[in-house]
Amino acid sequence: MSIRIVGTGSALPKRRVENREIVGLVDTSDAWIRERTGIAGRYISTGETVASLAAQACRRALEDAGKQAGEVELILAATCSPEEAAPCVACRIQKDIGAGNAVAFDLNAACSGFLFALHTAWAYVEAGICKNALIAGSEVLSKLVDWEDRGTCILFGDGAGAVYVEKCESGGILGFVMHADGQRGGVLAGGGRQLINPWAGRQDFRPFLEMDGREVFAFALRQVPVTVEEALGKSGLATGDIDLFVLHQANRRIIEGISKRLGADLARFPMNLEQVGNTSSAAIPLLLDQLRRQGRIERGMHLVLSGFGAGLTCGACAMEW
Ligand code: UT7
Repeated sequence: MSIRIVGTGSALPKRRVENREIVGLVDTSDAWIRERTGIAGRYISTGETVASLAAQACRRALEDAGKQAGEVELILAATCSPEEAAPCVACRIQKDIGAGNAVAFDLNAACSGFLFALHTAWAYVEAGICKNALIAGSEVLSKLVDWEDRGTCILFGDGAGAVYVEKCESGGILGFVMHADGQRGGVLAGGGRQLINPWAGRQDFRPFLEMDGREVFAFALRQVPVTVEEALGKSGLATGDIDLFVLHQANRRIIEGISKRLGADLARFPMNLEQVGNTSSAAIPLLLDQLRRQGRIERGMHLVLSGFGAGLTCGACAMEW
């Protein structure tokens, strides 16, 4: 028994921001950003929220799967940038789409969040708790990014992706691996709220995301290939069996490096980061949805999904679509 992705959806804010619009905010250039990251532009919220983008992506995933909201049993929202602490994003999605029979909660594993949520849904189905789930990855990181820090503001974009999954008797997810290394969490951290109460003195806090880009880069290059090999080992598949490696869209050079280390042709590593930048937990489901709608994913194909990010966290799964 396993779960299979039956429908996909995605949503992006209306406002597109080209690299040249960031030049001027910080000391950078369109050429540098393209060359060092592969990013040409991204979508930035001018009012869309994590929940509104997620709900739109979920509606599209349900429509794609041919399902009614009332049939959904579990809603998981992966995000590290909710606008408010309560209610959680998943409950807002539930209300917006009218999925009154679903239980709903959020998960935060930063850029690995979608994969961790997919793994949770898989475990819930395997445990017999539910038979289907709607999983969204959604971020509005633009409010946590320091628009005066050229090391981070060039990278991130806002958006959401969602998948509807169902219990299946064969195929679907074949192997899953996840890792977390809190010891090294400091290399990508921040985006906090100040401690304000009558007893706390003045506290230091980091309102924006701070990143040691080189460390994160090195972590991804080292850890993702190992994690992918582990997931393949669990699934009984080999690198050569995989039609598409759908990786977290952080930096073109990271994806190129991973393809080399795995010994797999770069043509099997689809990318959309040129158009949308790094959308954190939304990146994998957003890319899956675009690939599906372009007709590049068909039933029976073998896929690897792999993400990495703050935590530090990393995960991979191998599946038959
Ligand atoms: O979702 C997971 C989250 N994050 C990531 O995956 C990020 C992973 N890391 C990266 O993608 C890359 O490390 C960055 C794109 C963030 C930076 O690229 P890099 O090639 O690693 O640059 P660097 O940090 O090694 O810096 C090289 C130079 C430095 O100047 P000096 O010291 O050589 O004079 C930087 O100050 O490039 C400079 N620099 C920039 N120059 C123009 C850094 N950012 C910029 C910029 N424009 N935006």
